[in-house]
Amino acid sequence: MTRPVKPIRKAVFPVAGLGTRFLPATKAMPKEMLTVVDRPVIQHVVDEARSAGIEHFIFVTGRNKGVIEDHFDSQYELERTLADRGKKSELANLINDLPGAGQTSFTRQQAPLGLGHAVWCARDIVGDEPFALLLPDMLHHAKSPCLADMMKAYSEHGGNLVAVAPVPEDQTHQYGIVGVKDAKAKVSPITKMVEKPARGSAPSNLHITGRYILQPEIFGLLANQERGAGGEIQLTDSMIQLMDDARQPFHAVRFDGTIYDCGSKIGFLTANVAYALARDGLGTELRTELKKLL
Ligand code: UTP
Repeated sequence: MTRPVKPIRKAVFPVAGLGTRFLPATKAMPKEMLTVVDRPVIQHVVDEARSAGIEHFIFVTGRNKGVIEDHFDSQYELERTLADRGKKSELANLINDLPGAGQTSFTRQQAPLGLGHAVWCARDIVGDEPFALLLPDMLHHAKSPCLADMMKAYSEHGGNLVAVAPVPEDQTHQYGIVGVKDAKAKVSPITKMVEKPARGSAPSNLHITGRYILQPEIFGLLANQERGAGGEIQLTDSMIQLMDDARQPFHAVRFDGTIYDCGSKIGFLTANVAYALARDGLGTELRTELKKLL
């Protein structure tokens, strides 16, 4: 039986991880608030979701993450001061970045039991409808935002979708990898999915990049999920069940831009340089400074 294609209105942002790779910076500050140029990483990802038409933003937070909630709230004293000082464009930008009243929800993952568990924590807020999931660490830089491309593919195919991109063959064991019907197509049915395949056993070199559109049946599977790789409740394990046992369709959407893994120091630093070089009024000066350094 084919399901009617329900619109994607909500997006989940799991932000409860400990960010141990960024200690001591992340001892008291969430890693999602580290800035790429002058915007927190999480703001870049919320921007991507907004531009794809998402209406409700669900954050799965944890201890020490309260500042994320403050970031997406208005700051009366600051706005008043900017207005008094005539800083009109700064004020307009701040207001423009704010999701509307009632468009955000925050829930807590009480212990960092893994990405699958973090997503499951959002089940009641998402309810019985398909949703987008964006991993805030992974910045997807492209002319056409990744989630917008996925929404387009969803309107044609429905079901579940994951964004994918190639990685070098000798690194596939570090990622969630998919096998697809047509590796060259922009959108292709997924034939196989495996989390961190043993070396030499990956079905392709296409890795899951951190953007998903999922059907709500994933929550029932996550509820019964045992701990998998790394002792964590893995999202990929439940997606495999949804595809193989519940026989729901999964498509891969190839992402053609550049991905920066801001959960790693090198990815984060590179993202800062790349985003700054692309920024009007900053790129030329930075290029000169970088040349001096190099
Ligand atoms: P990561 O594994 O990259 O984040 O999870 P981490 O655990 O914070 O990183 P390190 O290794 O300690 O430095 C990917 C995303 O999933 C979230 C993280 O916040 C991150 O955005 N996550 C991960 C959760 O929300 N809960 C978890 O239990 C694990």
